[in-house]
Amino acid sequence: MAVGRWGVGFLGTGQMATALASAWRRTECLDLSRSWAWDIQAAAREQFAQRIGLPLAASNREVASRCELLLLAVKPGDVEAVLEEIRPVLRPEHLFVSIAAGVRLQTLQDGLGGHRRIVRVMPNTGCLVGCGASGISAAPEVTPREVEQVEGLFRAVGYVCRVPETLLDAVTGLSGSGPAFVALIVEALADGGVLSGLPRNLALELAAHTVLGTARLILEDGRHPAQIKDAVASPGGTTIAGLHVLEKAGVRGVLQQAVWMATCRAKELAEGGQNPSTAEGCFSKK
Ligand SMILES: NC(=O)c1ccc[n+]([C@@H]2O[C@H](COP(=O)([O-])OP(=O)(O)OC[C@H]3O[C@@H](n4cnc5c(N)ncnc54)[C@H](OP(=O)(O)O)[C@@H]3O)[C@@H](O)[C@H]2O)c1
Repeated sequence: MAVGRWGVGFLGTGQMATALASAWRRTECLDLSRSWAWDIQAAAREQFAQRIGLPLAASNREVASRCELLLLAVKPGDVEAVLEEIRPVLRPEHLFVSIAAGVRLQTLQDGLGGHRRIVRVMPNTGCLVGCGASGISAAPEVTPREVEQVEGLFRAVGYVCRVPETLLDAVTGLSGSGPAFVALIVEALADGGVLSGLPRNLALELAAHTVLGTARLILEDGRHPAQIKDAVASPGGTTIAGLHVLEKAGVRGVLQQAVWMATCRAKELAEGGQNPSTAEGCFSKK
């Protein structure tokens, strides 16, 4: 479905709002004559307005009174203040899209005085380079057509999947936190290259391209990860020697636990928890 051109009200103009607005501008999804933005930081909003080429409002409230589609792109801790500010000017036709990590539909609905036309999106940092992974969950009051359109907007910055809200914490644990997990793996692979005699920069480039190529084989060629592994691991060869070390160290289980732990933490934060879980506490919840 064509996404169409939207007038978007940007509530917060930080790095994610900028990545989205740039992509929407490039793909002609953004109607610049009907879009407005505001950020509490003068430098952030001015840079945004200059880069995207849209006007600045004088407050979040003015953005909300001028635009029907609102993108909430402030940090989770700042959400309450923004909701409180815009609540008096909210109209039934407003479609509210929040990318704030871990802020539930119910919390948004309460903060907006019962307004129910809300879509929650959990993007990831890959969106900054147009290669993100986003999970979307909409309140039942949002029409299927509107959900498709919001989905189309996030497709401009990468892959999008629709999930029930109960699974958004798992999306946070996997693709939200995943870039950090993969970055750590890439760094470790590069260290392995250095240990084996490669110059640092070359090792890092080889490691990153290896992850990129493997992801493309899975996504574009439709190969299962096990097929790729088996095809590369020849009998008595180099790869099976390395795989043996990884399996002995329990790398699969460790990565599964990392995603599970991140999911638990996302749940805990969404429920208002402040203190980090212990691993034991987290696993005992399973
Ligand atoms: N970046 C990512 O990779 C990523 C991934 C998934 C989800 N998200 C979500 O996306 C949201 C935005 O993240 P980000 O990385 O773009 O954050 P960011 O770069 O820090 O941008 C947020 C902006 O909102 C401003 N702000 C704070 N309070 C405000 C208010 N009351 N009204 C208007 N603006 C206000 C901030 O100013 P101050 O600096 O003064 O606070 C900052 O300029 C977050 O909720 C985050 O959970 C981000």
